[in-house]
Amino acid sequence: MKSPVHVAVTGAAGQIGYSLLFRIASGQLLGPDQPVILRLIEIEPGMKALEGVVMELQDCAFPLLKGIVPTSDLAEGFDSASWALLVGSVPRKAGMERGDLLGINGKIFTAQGKAIQDNAASDIRTLVVGNPCNTNCLIAMNNAPDVPKDRWFAMTRLDENRAKTQLALKAGVDVDSVKKLAIWGNHSSTMYPNYFDATIGGDPVPSVITDGAWFADSFIPTVQQRGAAIIKARGLSSAASAANAAIDTVRSLTTPTAEDDFFSVAVHSNGEYGIEPGLIYSFPMRSDGSTSSVVEGLAIGDFSSEKIKATEAELLEEKSLVSDLLP
Ligand code: NAD
Ligand code: LMR
Repeated sequence: MKSPVHVAVTGAAGQIGYSLLFRIASGQLLGPDQPVILRLIEIEPGMKALEGVVMELQDCAFPLLKGIVPTSDLAEGFDSASWALLVGSVPRKAGMERGDLLGINGKIFTAQGKAIQDNAASDIRTLVVGNPCNTNCLIAMNNAPDVPKDRWFAMTRLDENRAKTQLALKAGVDVDSVKKLAIWGNHSSTMYPNYFDATIGGDPVPSVITDGAWFADSFIPTVQQRGAAIIKARGLSSAASAANAAIDTVRSLTTPTAEDDFFSVAVHSNGEYGIEPGLIYSFPMRSDGSTSSVVEGLAIGDFSSEKIKATEAELLEEKSLVSDLLP
C-alpha cells in the first residue's frame, strides 16, 4: 500500500467542493491505488456546513480515504500537502466579469501563498480555481517565492472541455475524437480557444468544419460566454463541471499525454510565443507524467496572434490592478 498523499482543498464547503471532494476520496484525482488525506480549509462561517460534508465523506466509507482534517487555520490546512486546490473565493453574479472579483478575492491568495510555502510538502503543486483564477494564482505564486514557478497552475480546462463539446456537436462526432484544442490566455471572456491546431478524427478542424464564419460568430463567443450563460440559467456558477475540470487537470498533469493530443492549463510564462514572462497564461501543454511543458513551435497566424495578444493585454491589466499584493 502506498503512503497517503495529503490534498488540501480550500472552499471545501462550497458548491464546487461538494462535487470535488467525493471524487478525490474515491480515487479519481490521484488514481485507484493512491490513498489520500483530505485537508479541508474553510473560513469560520463555512465551518458548520463543512462538518456536514465531513460526515458525508465518512458515510461513504471510501477505502482510499485515510484521514480528514477540517480547519480554518491555513498552517494546519496546508501542512504536508502535495496538492493544493484553491477553490475558496466568492463566485461572480449575473452581469459581472470574473475580473470584477479581483478586489474581493485577490487578497485571499496572499496569505494562502505564504501558508503554502511555509507548510506544504516539498513537492507541492497548486491549482487555482477561484476567480479570477489566473491572477489569483499570480498573487499566490508571488507570495511563495521559494516554491518553484513550475508548480503553479490556474484552471482553463473547463473552457477546453466546453470548446471540445461545441466542436463535436457541430461536426456530429463523439467528443473524444476532438484533440489538441487548447485555450490560450486568461480564464475570462478574452480567452482564445485556438481551433487551428485542433483535430477531429485526426484531421484539422478547419478541414472538417468548413462553415468558416461559424468559428468567429458562434464558437468563440459561446466558449467565452459559457460561464455567464450557466449563471444566467442556473442562478449559480458552474460547479459539477468545474470540479470535473479540476480532476481532469490534475490527471493530465500527472499522466503522460497521448502522442496525438495536448491539454490546457494556465502556467507561469517563460516568454513562450512572446507572452510576457511571469504572467499566468494558458497554453497548450504536454506532460510526461511528472513534469509538464508548453507545446512549442505551433504556427500562429494573424487571427490567432491578435487573439493571444488581446488576452495577454487583459492579464497585464489585471496584474497592474493587484500590484500592491505582489511583493
Ligand atoms: P461557493 O460560494 O459555493 O463556495 C465558495 C466557498 O469558499 C464557500 O464555502 C466559502 O465559505 C469559501 N471561502 C471563501 N473565502 C475563503 C477563504 N479565504 N478560504 C477558504 N474558503 C473560503 O463558490 P463555488 O461555486 O464553489 O466557486 C468557488 C470559486 O470558483 C468562485 O470564485 C468561482 O467563480 C470559481 N470558479 C472557477 C472556475 C474555473 O473554471 N476556473 C469554474 C467555476 C467556478
Ligand atoms: C465558469 O467558467 O463557469 C466559472 O469561471 C464561473 C464564472 O464566473 O463564469
